[in-house]
Amino acid sequence: MEKLIIEGSRELVGQVTMSGAKNAALPLIAATLLAPGTHELTNVPDLRDTRTILAIISELGCVWRRQDSTLFIDSTNVDYSEVSYDLVKTMRASVLVLGPLLTRLGRAKVSLPGGCAIGERPINFHIHGFERLGVHCTLEHGYVEAWRDTELRGSTIHFDIPSVTATENLLMASVLARGTTVLKNAAREPEIGNLIEMLTNMGGDIEGKGTDQLTIRGVSKLKAARTAIIPDRIETGTYLMAIAAAGGQATITGCQPRHLPALLDKLMEAGVEIDCGSNSIKVNMDSQRRKRLKGVDIKTMVYPGYPTDLQAQFMALMSLSSGICVIKETIFENRFMHVAELRRLGAHIRTEGNSAVVTGRGPAGLSGARVMATDLRASSSLVIAALAASGRTEISRIYHLERGYENLVDKLTGLGARVWKENE
Ligand code: EPU
Repeated sequence: MEKLIIEGSRELVGQVTMSGAKNAALPLIAATLLAPGTHELTNVPDLRDTRTILAIISELGCVWRRQDSTLFIDSTNVDYSEVSYDLVKTMRASVLVLGPLLTRLGRAKVSLPGGCAIGERPINFHIHGFERLGVHCTLEHGYVEAWRDTELRGSTIHFDIPSVTATENLLMASVLARGTTVLKNAAREPEIGNLIEMLTNMGGDIEGKGTDQLTIRGVSKLKAARTAIIPDRIETGTYLMAIAAAGGQATITGCQPRHLPALLDKLMEAGVEIDCGSNSIKVNMDSQRRKRLKGVDIKTMVYPGYPTDLQAQFMALMSLSSGICVIKETIFENRFMHVAELRRLGAHIRTEGNSAVVTGRGPAGLSGARVMATDLRASSSLVIAALAASGRTEISRIYHLERGYENLVDKLTGLGARVWKENE
């Protein structure tokens, strides 16, 4: 196993380019199962999670090749409908193949994802939605088994809570269904917009992109198409906060600032100087600004609210402020695993239920330590804290980071950070 070593307290300067979004790439790769032919996806990040979904679709019969960041996926011979525990246990998003398999083959058997480090994460909304379209579902021996006797039939589905992957699964299950499907209280994340764009390129008929009500008029056929993956807004937010925490002056390119409304607002309120272009963000955090960094409260919400996937990173940044802030996590019930690790670096954080109170220790308040990565975004908060901390930090279990951050070491090194990997 590898660990990450960071020698902190160095300003970040220069330019860094963002990769395609992990959470858009996963559903778009799954959507290639819907129609035979060779699909072309551009700007696909090469990550542990994208490799996992590619391993899954290969098992189902797809053949793919990568040329730089473009993937060519031939899904002509999809004939297998089962995904084993070994693949699902490493990535919950594997359930994204359920919708396309039900459409294409009329059946699917996918290992039920268990709970994970951030919460229980059930899939009842997915199942309920499929049943509304006429699918039979059973949960036995740790597997979800779903099948249809006839073609899928359009229906109205109301989600209790907007769920990102449930919305995506139902979009993929209804695009070829007979009649019209309406998804109410649907999630509105930009990654869902990207999936709608791909399904539309394939010949689907979907209305309501960007809103919480999606109307899908079933079409009789889809064709393979070419679609670009949107830039990763969570990676962008992570680098923004790394620069704000460590100080310096740097430009993030290849990003979509309009996908980060809540974070940009909070960072500006805290005193980070930000200048947005249409595809770039310039951050200026000189030593005076670092000293004056204010404590600002956040509450995680569905999009366009503050993203839960950027909660841990904000906590790391707030540990360096000169104020106090309250961070409330409303999406997942157990997403404070990073707190104990941030404390090892010197952060003052108190938790009560789903709230954390962070008492900032100022820009020089953290110092290096040995810490452990617990999940993907928790790990990136440790990287941010380590970049700002004095001395050396060792982060173990970095396979979590490799699930979602492409070329992290090279990108940070390019900004002037001292960071490298070593064997444990
Ligand atoms: N929920 C249910 N039942 C369901 C589905 C969801 O109760 O059937 C609950 C969840 O437990 C949670 C809430 O609804 O409390 C929202 O969860 P959601 O379904 O939206 O999460 P997800 O689709 O499983 C995606 C991202 C996560 C991100 C969340 C929230 C992908 C592949 N994953 O997960 O990304 O945190 O939305 O924005 O898109 C990450 O990238 O690190 C990550 C965890």
